[in-house]
Amino acid sequence: MAVATQPPGAVDLSDPQTFLDHELVPMWQRFRRESPVHWHAVEGWKVPGFWVLSRYDDVMSVYRDNKRFTSERGNVLATLLEGGDSAAGKMLAVTDGRRHRELRNLLLKAFAPRVLERVVEGVRRRADRLVRQGLERGDCDFAQDIAEHIPMATIADLLGVPASDRDYLLSLTKQALSAEEADQSGDEALVARQELLLYFADLAEDRRENPESDVVSVLATATIDGEPLTEQEIVFNCYSVIIGGDETSRLSMIGGMHELMEHPEQWRRLSSGEVSVDSAVEEVLRWVTPAMHFGRRALTDVEIGGTTIRADDVVTLWNTSANHDEEIFDDPGTFDLGRTPNKHVSFGYGPHFCLGAYLGRAEIHAMLTALRTHVSEAAPTGPAKPIHSNFLRGYSSLPVSMRPHR
Ligand code: HEM
Repeated sequence: MAVATQPPGAVDLSDPQTFLDHELVPMWQRFRRESPVHWHAVEGWKVPGFWVLSRYDDVMSVYRDNKRFTSERGNVLATLLEGGDSAAGKMLAVTDGRRHRELRNLLLKAFAPRVLERVVEGVRRRADRLVRQGLERGDCDFAQDIAEHIPMATIADLLGVPASDRDYLLSLTKQALSAEEADQSGDEALVARQELLLYFADLAEDRRENPESDVVSVLATATIDGEPLTEQEIVFNCYSVIIGGDETSRLSMIGGMHELMEHPEQWRRLSSGEVSVDSAVEEVLRWVTPAMHFGRRALTDVEIGGTTIRADDVVTLWNTSANHDEEIFDDPGTFDLGRTPNKHVSFGYGPHFCLGAYLGRAEIHAMLTALRTHVSEAAPTGPAKPIHSNFLRGYSSLPVSMRPHR
């Protein structure tokens, strides 16, 4: 049961439970209105607290500024509060400066439309098949039976993981990344993460001999200034595609389905073709905002909205609030699949703008297309189960009953 909206100073944003207990829309409204550049103290961490930016323009200004703000000491609360990220300077999302540009340019090759065409075709086929199978069953868990089977299969295609290894990879990533259970064992996750890195080291070795057009081959055969990438750079960046692309896309598709059921008039607009799937994808991304925040460390003193952020301070950027900023979005509290313009920040902005945005969009597009094509009605058959996280937002279970078009 959501509690009454509290003032910004009374909300603990480091605690995952906060995001389950509070009505988030009014909570962020208060942040934007009462304390848009808000100091949030914490205890028991390596840092004394962090800044909370909730207005769209402030969030964008930090995303675009990788000169005065760095990602190299973490880019999400979990690592920022720990004081650093062990993959800093090697993994794209937590690397800055020249090395970031070089690595990003390399990876962009593997995300080129020519390569992605094949991957996106797989996404469409898979979404269509899974929705039809769900319909045959009538009742299913949209999260576990449908949405879960798309992102990892897509990432495996992108990375070039052989069919025989896919189940193994899936079970490892589940253990390594599952943010869904509050009682998840940290040790198991650590072991699984190590095994994943070893797996990619082996695959890279193989691809160095027999390169193809996938991400692992690109990383394994690349050189920068005549030097190959280090093994750590290769494996961390394979891993980063999984971290970046699995849960975010999955939660977007699940959230999209959840909202379509909550807003039957929007489902009708989508089914009848009154709104395009393209604009529906953008509104699902804005409304769901699966990655609630990202963050940075300040490298120098910076003034934001009349407040001085000191060098070394942790700054968090709340996409989930920026995407509801009434200064930017007309009627932000309305879920409107035909919304234009829709300049949401769900994929971030600037130098670290999501590398997988095209693919993420393609996955949501494929899912909405499959739903519009095959499903006439859907209704929840039980409570949706929200995930427990201060970073990601969405559901790990969504029991539904679906009926086909006549
Ligand atoms: C970066 C969101 C899908 C790979 C980011 C960032 C955001 C984001 C907000 C910026 C992080 C920062 O500024 O610190 C999302 C959402 C997705 C999605 C909402 C789905 C709906 C994907 C997919 C992939 C991917 C499918 C890969 C297959 C990455 C990578 C980065 C990144 C590698 C780091 C880019 C860099 O630092 O230059 N993502 N993402 N993402 N994303 Fe995504």
